[in-house]
Amino acid sequence: MLNLAIIIGSVRTGRQSHKAAYYLEKKFKEFKDINVKIVDLINYEVPILEERLSRTENPPASVKEASEILDKSDAIILVSPEYHGGISGVLKNFLDYFLKEITKKPIGVVTASGGKFGGINASHEIQKLILAIGSYPMPKKFLVPFVHQSFDNEYNALNEETAKGAEAFVSEFVWFANTITNGKNLFTKAA
Ligand SMILES: Cc1cc2nc3c(=O)[nH]c(=O)nc-3n(C[C@H](O)[C@H](O)[C@H](O)COP(=O)(O)O)c2cc1C
Repeated sequence: MLNLAIIIGSVRTGRQSHKAAYYLEKKFKEFKDINVKIVDLINYEVPILEERLSRTENPPASVKEASEILDKSDAIILVSPEYHGGISGVLKNFLDYFLKEITKKPIGVVTASGGKFGGINASHEIQKLILAIGSYPMPKKFLVPFVHQSFDNEYNALNEETAKGAEAFVSEFVWFANTITNGKNLFTKAA
């Protein structure tokens, strides 16, 4: 069983990029041995970071709750809109609370934008962040351009390009997460 956490880093009024996350949730739920948990930051009260969770005596309850979900996850997908050429501040602030919960894990990147580039700048930033926490960024990303025209309110894809992009991402992620989490120690030192 693979425990997958999908973190949604958009809480904006009228937000759109959460739709990509809920669409992917449906696709991952088609696998009987993948257990998907959504961490939608709209449901978590996350104060501006004063100190990391591991160094705080009285952490905010919602951060503690998220920590337990992330701790149990074997793999993570980060979903972010592109704001001012980068990652959403809400997602960055949230991730800064953690380390042990998110390190050494396979992590997929999904970004969205209102224009034609699909948040490519944010996606590069997030891959760098994943390296900085000692985790493994999947090279293949899912970029969603024109996000407001890509999904309906029931989280169905509105065009073939979106559906195909998601399918390719899901299939690659399943392989990537499986490869990293089931790594066998094939090598032993010669006596
Ligand atoms: C503060 C802010 C900054 C933005 N900056 C960019 C940007 O740099 N590049 C881009 O392609 N779109 C930018 N946009 C457009 C967003 O990508 C678009 O609104 C998209 O729907 C964002 O996802 P969201 O709806 O989940 O917030 C920006 C939007 C906001 C609110």
